[in-house]
Amino acid sequence: MPLDDRSTDRPVIPTTSQRTGGGSGTVGDIHAREPVITVRDCNVHYGDTHALKQVSLDIGRNEVVSLIGPSGCGKSTFIRCLNRMNDTIESARVTGDFRLDGQDIYAKDMDVVLLRARVGMVFQKPNPFPKSIFENVAYGPRIHGLAGSRRQLDDIVYESLERAGLLAEVKDRLDEPGTGLSGGQQQRLCIARAIAVSPDVILMDEPCSALDPIATARIEDLIDELREKYAIAIVTHSMQQAARVSQRTAYFHLGNLVEVGPTEKIFTNPGHKLTEDYVTGRFG
Ligand SMILES: Nc1ncnc2c1ncn2[C@@H]1O[C@H](COP(=O)(O)OP(=O)(O)OP(=O)(O)O)[C@@H](O)[C@H]1O
Ligand SMILES: [Mg+2]
Repeated sequence: MPLDDRSTDRPVIPTTSQRTGGGSGTVGDIHAREPVITVRDCNVHYGDTHALKQVSLDIGRNEVVSLIGPSGCGKSTFIRCLNRMNDTIESARVTGDFRLDGQDIYAKDMDVVLLRARVGMVFQKPNPFPKSIFENVAYGPRIHGLAGSRRQLDDIVYESLERAGLLAEVKDRLDEPGTGLSGGQQQRLCIARAIAVSPDVILMDEPCSALDPIATARIEDLIDELREKYAIAIVTHSMQQAARVSQRTAYFHLGNLVEVGPTEKIFTNPGHKLTEDYVTGRFG
């Protein structure tokens, strides 16, 4: 699909295809300063549905990238490619080049369980295991052999809960079920579970959409803190949230990555008409 650069009154931004030789026509710069994930020419089909078309994008260390766009444009599909969650969908066919620190994510010898620890995921609906708060966080480090002793395991659990901003609220009831926490607490528990295995990347698919404004603000603060250590991609329908938490924003439309750039630019001076229509609320 030809994605024109609209403006006569704005400088023409070289497209990704001009920069990378890819065929996507994305406006803006797909590159991160310190890439952890690099995706080139990603295509995903579900049966006859072409859900992602020639998408190329980096996600870098110490940055939050927001993925925005109308429902069905392929945001979740894109992040699911990054830790091979689409492997579990029978009709999904994924092509392209996907790297984690240079390593081929789709290599035959890739250990997918380990990959999903290195590229952790937080979902829209908090999904703690039906186990204690402690066990929710301890499970990953235990199966990946990250703790040599019970003492070390305790340390990992406490530190992860602390970094997820939850320890103070749960330290006296670690044996109680994770499912008994409030929605916002459950989501922070899921974040603690993701960071307990020392990931490189955290993917979040609308992590606040089931939360009230106070719980949302806590998660947003947390995302900002986590950026110091991880590469983060967050799917959100809230443009205010994208503006608050991310340094770069990627706008998807009908399976195309239309535009990517500094968040402020995307919201105040986008380079593509489709982006402008969406961020000014004219879309749809
Ligand atoms: N498991 C699946 N099987 C078949 N088609 C799917 C599947 N998951 C997604 N699709 C299709 O792929 C396209 C992209 O869907 P995706 O869920 O990635 O969009 P999205 O941008 O995350 O939307 P939303 O904002 O509603 O979550 C849509 O046309 C959708 O119907
Ligand atoms: Mg989605």
